[in-house]
Amino acid sequence: MSEPSVETSEASITCFVSPKGGSGKTVVCAGLASILSSLGFKVLMIDADEATSGMTMLYLRSVLARKRQGDYPSSLYDVGKDGLSRSAELTHLGDLLDLAPAAYATAVMKNDAIGVASDRLSATIANARKRYDYVLIDAEAGGDPRAIMALNHADEVVVVSEWDPISAQGTVRLQQALPDLLAPEKTWILYNKVLPEFIGAIGDSFLEVVRYLSPVPWDADVVRSLMRSELAVNLEAPNTHTLALMRTIDAVFPGARPAVEAWRGELRDKNHSEIASQIGSIEKKISAVESALSRTTSEVVSRNSPGAAINAIGRIAIMAAGVLALLVASLVGLFGSSLIESLVGGAAALIGAVLAIVTLTYVRRRADSERRKMRDLGVQQDVLRTKLYELMETRDKLRVADLQDPRIRGSQ
Ligand SMILES: Nc1ncnc2c1ncn2[C@@H]1O[C@H](COP(=O)(O)OP(=O)(O)O)[C@@H](O)[C@H]1O
Ligand SMILES: [Mg+2]
Repeated sequence: MSEPSVETSEASITCFVSPKGGSGKTVVCAGLASILSSLGFKVLMIDADEATSGMTMLYLRSVLARKRQGDYPSSLYDVGKDGLSRSAELTHLGDLLDLAPAAYATAVMKNDAIGVASDRLSATIANARKRYDYVLIDAEAGGDPRAIMALNHADEVVVVSEWDPISAQGTVRLQQALPDLLAPEKTWILYNKVLPEFIGAIGDSFLEVVRYLSPVPWDADVVRSLMRSELAVNLEAPNTHTLALMRTIDAVFPGARPAVEAWRGELRDKNHSEIASQIGSIEKKISAVESALSRTTSEVVSRNSPGAAINAIGRIAIMAAGVLALLVASLVGLFGSSLIESLVGGAAALIGAVLAIVTLTYVRRRADSERRKMRDLGVQQDVLRTKLYELMETRDKLRVADLQDPRIRGSQ
């Protein structure tokens, strides 16, 4: 993480505007501010949107806590206890992140005079220039006087727009209405909430005089997080939204690029070692499945081997020989001359018959159980092979993911 460059340079003022409300100015502006401060830069966010005060609402809990500390502090759009105090009072959101809210009391917006708000904005920015690395202004939608007031203070402008014909027309009209404030050399166009299937289509666009940023995809994480008044920004385990905003930082805040690259490097190393350990544990599973498969296969082979067949035939042959011997004995006995011989012959015939039945039953049962066993072994082999292919596929995907880590792709 880099050291804040507060001592050495002045903050740049970046203003976020949009042709119409709901384009995601607040989400993008707050997301970028949060990332920049996490990367070690000192950041001030200014909510200049009186109409919706989205940024103030997002941090309402902190704003109200700040309000309770002093009795009714001043902000851009309400007068506050100091009457015409020149600068807006700030709410601290973190060590390196502050907010100048649109108002501390939404019900008391007495200060309609755009001149006073503009003076307060100027004073707030003048105070911030040397104290912060970046000042981000969340402006009002459209081109009304309050949006113009914010634009008048901007070094750079990001027009946040949705990617549909109405928003695109709105962007063109905004640019035509404010050619100086949205001069091409200081204006970026950022398409936000772009459905993933359209991301690739953006590029051959209608406005050629302005600079385009890598689009920010529509992301359910953003909506879910906002339900909890949170941002979908996570530097530890970055999601698509965080990665998209990092690409915006690459372009709009070049001074932060080394810090972003350092973060990417750390992430790649961490990601690489996590993937390596996942691959390691998958490889252990692969070798366990491989040895189970080879045990099953050798059992199949041994059951199919000539030795096993000879053993089985041998056992049956011995029993058959016994039956035959008893049959011969019974014939000899039955046709013998004495009563004893006949009795012995009869007994031999009886035992022979029983042995014959036992032999036949044994042969049938053995054949059945052998068939069942071979079928089970076949199923087991199939299951193990499928498992093996799945594991190998997962391992290969992880290897590819390691090589193609999207975090490696930084600048646009
Ligand atoms: N990248 C995004 N993906 C999904 N939804 C988004 C995204 N950006 C913004 N939104 C949604 O759009 C709504 C409007 O965003 P917001 O930042 O308040 O717009 P604006 O400040 O321009 O009026 C948010 O409530 C959020 O649900
Ligand atoms: Mg807003």
